[in-house]
Amino acid sequence: MKIIRSPSAMTAWSEGLRRESVRIGLVPTMGALHEGHQALIRAARLRCDALAVSIFVNPTQFGPREDLTNYPRPISRDRALCEQEGVDVCFEPSVQAMYPEGFQTTVNLPVIARRWEGEVRPHHFSGVATVVSKLFGMVRPQIALFGQKDFQQSVLVHRLVKDLNLGVKIVVRPTVREHDGLAMSSRNVYLSPDDRVRAVTLYRSLQAGAEVIQKGVRDGKAVQAAMYQVIKAEPSMTIDYLAVCDPYTIEPLSTVTSRVVLLGAVRLRSVRLIDNLLVTVPRRRS
Ligand code: PAF
Repeated sequence: MKIIRSPSAMTAWSEGLRRESVRIGLVPTMGALHEGHQALIRAARLRCDALAVSIFVNPTQFGPREDLTNYPRPISRDRALCEQEGVDVCFEPSVQAMYPEGFQTTVNLPVIARRWEGEVRPHHFSGVATVVSKLFGMVRPQIALFGQKDFQQSVLVHRLVKDLNLGVKIVVRPTVREHDGLAMSSRNVYLSPDDRVRAVTLYRSLQAGAEVIQKGVRDGKAVQAAMYQVIKAEPSMTIDYLAVCDPYTIEPLSTVTSRVVLLGAVRLRSVRLIDNLLVTVPRRRS
């Protein structure tokens, strides 16, 4: 496995392969790789001939009071996982290489970014859209894989690729969960043992929303209320949002129709958790 740090060397590697019609895949990450990333890498391996994993803790998607400095960076372990999974290149650019002196262009998707994560983390999606555009420009993949865990991010990346004609096929893979249902996340390491047990309440609340839909509830507010009830029973959790949305636009739905996404974000003391569940609404029998 090659470790490439410079953007120009990354592009040179890709360009050489593209000339030989090699299909290049990219799994963009911020490192601290877990089984969710591993599943993405495995899915990517099946869909391309040459695979790059980028490891870059992108400062522009963190807010001023967020965990940029403390974000886990177990680089040797990450490289070992990539090597074991047959990754061809670990792309590890520095902050200076990504954002050199004079850098000023940003990419914004004001509609998708205005709600949910975008409301709580105002510059987050501009940082994500900008760095993903840059990574696509440097790695030049034909296909890139993202996890469903960051649902709003995946909607945003689809829109970005379409709006800017980036020519990258986007594949979104299901969230990988711990044995109790907690969505895998690099930030789960921040949870104390007691909070780790409580953390699954977020997933349970999404399941409660899905259950009432399966039972015939179609009013968006009533589904949301079912989700709220579960979180309210866990006093150490505070809610950032719990929402019932259209999975393509992520706009809230007053009535649940064919397919919905239930989105949730909560805080467990200083740790913020997000999760989502896609639900296919059963047809009413006539
Ligand atoms: O999902 C992530 O890990 C990041 O947001 C991404 C897509 C690698 C951009 O920094």
